[in-house]
Amino acid sequence: MRLDGPVVLASGILGISLDVFRRLHRSGAGAVVTKSLSKSPWTGYANPTVIGLDNGGWLNAVGLSNPGAQNFADMIRPNREIPIIVSLVGSTAAEFEYMIDKFDECAVVAYELNMSCPHVAKVGLEVGDDPALVREIVGAAKQASGDSAPVLVKVGLGSSNYLDTVGAAIDGGADAITAINTIRSMAIDAELQRPVLSNRFGGLSGAPIKPIALRCVYEIASRFGDIPIMGCGGISNWKDAVEFILAGASAVQIGSVLGEEDVDIFGRINTGITEYMERKGIDRLQDMVGHAQRR
Ligand SMILES: Cc1cc2nc3c(=O)[nH]c(=O)nc-3n(C[C@H](O)[C@H](O)[C@H](O)COP(=O)(O)O)c2cc1C
Repeated sequence: MRLDGPVVLASGILGISLDVFRRLHRSGAGAVVTKSLSKSPWTGYANPTVIGLDNGGWLNAVGLSNPGAQNFADMIRPNREIPIIVSLVGSTAAEFEYMIDKFDECAVVAYELNMSCPHVAKVGLEVGDDPALVREIVGAAKQASGDSAPVLVKVGLGSSNYLDTVGAAIDGGADAITAINTIRSMAIDAELQRPVLSNRFGGLSGAPIKPIALRCVYEIASRFGDIPIMGCGGISNWKDAVEFILAGASAVQIGSVLGEEDVDIFGRINTGITEYMERKGIDRLQDMVGHAQRR
């Protein structure tokens, strides 16, 4: 898979226009993951959909609002220079096949199947919690994409063991795993005495989920050995990124930190990783992937 660097934009964060993608790429993003796209356009939930929490985390229930696969494919078709990973969400193998066909003439570097969104019915985690369905969808997506682009599966913490989802994805032919998505959560307003989000439940992201995401990357790497992993969840600086690489990730994705820092965070993390490698005498990033597994 073509990546211009190890730090990638996570899905759903600024992932909606080619102009923004260009700006992020210039700032050091190794690739950008699009907002998750569905077969038809979705409007999403009513406001409030994203809230900042006192503990430094974010809670969102955007409801996967997106322009639909066809409209998005039309928008990115002229692109050749930015590595774009297209995130897709759906309920059936046929839907994923349909969507991948729409990107036929686009320079897509990978597809990321969202099997982990924790707040929309019948998709995301509800798919990820069903290993047989995961296997079927990944198999169909692999067939539809052919040799054109690898297929990543994005997992999260649902009601079944997420490692079973990873195993099913690998059985279906997944080329890599992204771990993790937001974690199902909620906030309640004590004065108004009601849930804050219009959807009541949403997904927790940002610094508070980092230790959980790191644990998941470590577990996936130790259970499944060679499958490449994109680590995601609460990464805010180069040190976080290095920790995910040492746990077993070959690349990382950042999302919520962009709610607090400017887009040059990509460059700052790249520089921090490079300086760390120089200090430790590590020549290639690949040489430190999973190093913490040895101890
Ligand atoms: C506002 C918002 C929207 C998101 N939308 C998507 C999405 O469409 N598809 C997806 O797979 N993940 C989505 N995510 C999850 C992120 O891609 C990422 O997995 C998660 O936020 C953890 O990383 P972070 O702590 O760096 O933000 C969204 C997250 C946020 C905060």
